[in-house]
Amino acid sequence: MTKTEVSISPASGKLGVLLPGMGAVSTTFIAGVEAVKKGLSEPIGSLTQMGRLRLGKRSENRSAAIKDFVPLADLNNLVFGGWDIFPDSAYEAAAKAKVLEPELLSQLKNELSQIKPMPAVFDPNYITQISGEYVKKGKTKMDLADQLREDIRNFKKNNGCDRLVMVWCASTERYTDPSPCHQTVQAFEKALLENDPMIAPSMIYAYAALKERVPYANGSPNRSVEIPALQELARELRVPVCGSDFKTGQTFMKTLVAPGLKSRLLGLSGWYSTNILGNRDGEVLADPGSFKTKEVSKLSVLEQILEPETYPTLYGKVHHQVQINYYPPRGDNKEGWDNIDIVGWLGYPMQIKINFLCRDSILAAPIVLDLAIFMDLAQRSSFYGIQEWLSFYFKSPLAAEGLKPEHDLQVQLLKLHNTLRFLGKEELINHLGLTYYGIVEE
Ligand SMILES: NC(=O)c1ccc[n+]([C@@H]2O[C@H](COP(=O)([O-])OP(=O)(O)OC[C@H]3O[C@@H](n4cnc5c(N)ncnc54)[C@H](O)[C@@H]3O)[C@@H](O)[C@H]2O)c1
Repeated sequence: MTKTEVSISPASGKLGVLLPGMGAVSTTFIAGVEAVKKGLSEPIGSLTQMGRLRLGKRSENRSAAIKDFVPLADLNNLVFGGWDIFPDSAYEAAAKAKVLEPELLSQLKNELSQIKPMPAVFDPNYITQISGEYVKKGKTKMDLADQLREDIRNFKKNNGCDRLVMVWCASTERYTDPSPCHQTVQAFEKALLENDPMIAPSMIYAYAALKERVPYANGSPNRSVEIPALQELARELRVPVCGSDFKTGQTFMKTLVAPGLKSRLLGLSGWYSTNILGNRDGEVLADPGSFKTKEVSKLSVLEQILEPETYPTLYGKVHHQVQINYYPPRGDNKEGWDNIDIVGWLGYPMQIKINFLCRDSILAAPIVLDLAIFMDLAQRSSFYGIQEWLSFYFKSPLAAEGLKPEHDLQVQLLKLHNTLRFLGKEELINHLGLTYYGIVEE
């Protein structure tokens, strides 16, 4: 098959969505899908469910709902499973996470109570703030990977699934530096057998998924499929992967505002971001090791959007600071403050303040849904390796080696839309628009 004659296999049968980590984000996602299926709510925030795509020239006035334009898995065909270090069902975990109103939850109790996690692969060296007993035991990390692979196969069989996808929604692991065992598949597999401490649980899940040819998306900032060894494996086995770190609250705002400032060539002297967050994610991020992982992910965004090396006068000296403060009273309702010091004509300083009172998991849940559905589309379209067209959903989007990732939300959306047009065999849109005005011909 060449890149111009892609053919998409049908989205028939059930799609199993496997979620390492069944906490606030996962349960809000599952509950949301069940609520939509019951007609209790609309899938607000989901491109796959509510998005439309312009087709052809503007003068044609054509557009299509994304879900009618390309063959996507239907919500009624999704089946959910996952792993956690606590044995709580999705209903119990959702009740503890306190994201959703008890009244809504009670209407979904039947569906959510049936979803029980499988015992997790966990390493307290990677997450220090929480511990649970519901974990697998194995002599080696390879042994643990084999147990996960068996879980995956059993889940597929027991639930009559045609296809599976995996989206990592577990807690953020501590920051890890790249290590030689992350560099090649061979070194990685040797390290699994030798219990190398540099192999994080999230890497073991990613490895197990890839070996079972299951597309893998990483919703948190820790190094999981982000290492060369697993990307090599994804290419070798022809499996789609993407990451990292769902782009939801403050970084979502940053990737809207920063490209706007840059497009008008307004300078920047500082950007101070702070948050309060009281959920379990906030608790884990109170650990400096886990926060460092998040900080690296959040800080990289501005630098890559602003390109200080290309625009030294405007962005050569930006003071960028990011803080997350664990503050239990707010639970999942995160509040973020941004103070942006900008510089205009003749060097005059100005300020922008953003105060975003958001709900963390409410913003993340539709992203999990879209990733599950689009990763399945990618696999049915024979796409493999890093799915750059899904950068739209990530704070630290993965890109092919040697390429800078694209952070500008609107450029990311254009890429996503054009990928869908390509799959639907429609003309790509570059917004040139020359046909609508004159050019004097000599
Ligand atoms: N909500 C957002 O807006 C947002 C945005 C970006 C990224 N994220 C990331 O998504 C992830 C989930 O966030 P959340 O709010 O649901 O957190 P959460 O703490 O509510 O849920 C995480 C779950 O993962 C479980 N877990 C930890 N280690 C595990 C392992 N090795 N295997 C299986 N389960 C494990 C925990 O027990 C917990 O139930 C976090 O990494 C977070 O940083 C969230």
